Amino acid sequence: MENERIIPRHVAIIMDGNGRWAKQHGLERVEGHRAGAIAVKNLVESLKHTGIQYLTLYAFSTENWKRSKEEVDALMELLAEFIDANLPLLMENDVRLLVSGRIEGLPEKAREKLKDAIRKSSANTGGTVIFALNYGGRAEIADAAKKIADQVLKGEISPEQIDEKLFAQNLYLPDVPDPDLLIRTSGELRLSNFLLWELSYAEIYVTDTYWPDFDLAELDKAIDAFQKRNRRFGGR
Ligand code: FPP
Repeated sequence: MENERIIPRHVAIIMDGNGRWAKQHGLERVEGHRAGAIAVKNLVESLKHTGIQYLTLYAFSTENWKRSKEEVDALMELLAEFIDANLPLLMENDVRLLVSGRIEGLPEKAREKLKDAIRKSSANTGGTVIFALNYGGRAEIADAAKKIADQVLKGEISPEQIDEKLFAQNLYLPDVPDPDLLIRTSGELRLSNFLLWELSYAEIYVTDTYWPDFDLAELDKAIDAFQKRNRRFGGR
């Protein structure tokens, strides 16, 4: 029955396949990213109705800097445009925006727009969208280790106090619960350095659909698959 569906509280998505989508349509790669941004907008717009409380989207990885300057610049421009165009949509739909990653490494224009949107949407309660930007799972773990080492050096904690809970409290977004479901579009069976700590117990769902074609019906399929899994967390 529809109202008995178990909805994952936190869904994380590796949005892959923009380039292949563009090729399939005889377009430039950047047009694939543009179409991908529309898919993001459509999901954000409907977030409240899905019942999902947290949606983390892998929008730019620490490895993505290796792409051509032209493509990196286009992605950063698209991000700034996306915030400009969709801040009213976030507000109308009561969605809060957060970011995860080495944000100080982003171009100033994108960073300033993000900061502004995060501040303006901070009291929204209809769901949280998290853009993982300049994000790497290993970088996040290394950054947490650095913060903890600093606390030890200052005498605020002792090495004996370092456990999983304290470690998790030093990740980028300590107040966000771990994802229940990881979706990867475009068929690849890899984690690609995404949320390495947080995905420990997540169910993984991979679809061949390219990201720009990923819509609410596709999300529904992923949630159906999630419900059919027996989640035991290593116990009985
Ligand atoms: C992977 O496709 C996608 C990315 C590297 C970036 C994701 C960006 C977007 C969805 C658009 C902009 C996002 C926001 C938040 C406005 P790919 O280029 O690796 O595809 P391919 O593997 O088919 O080449």
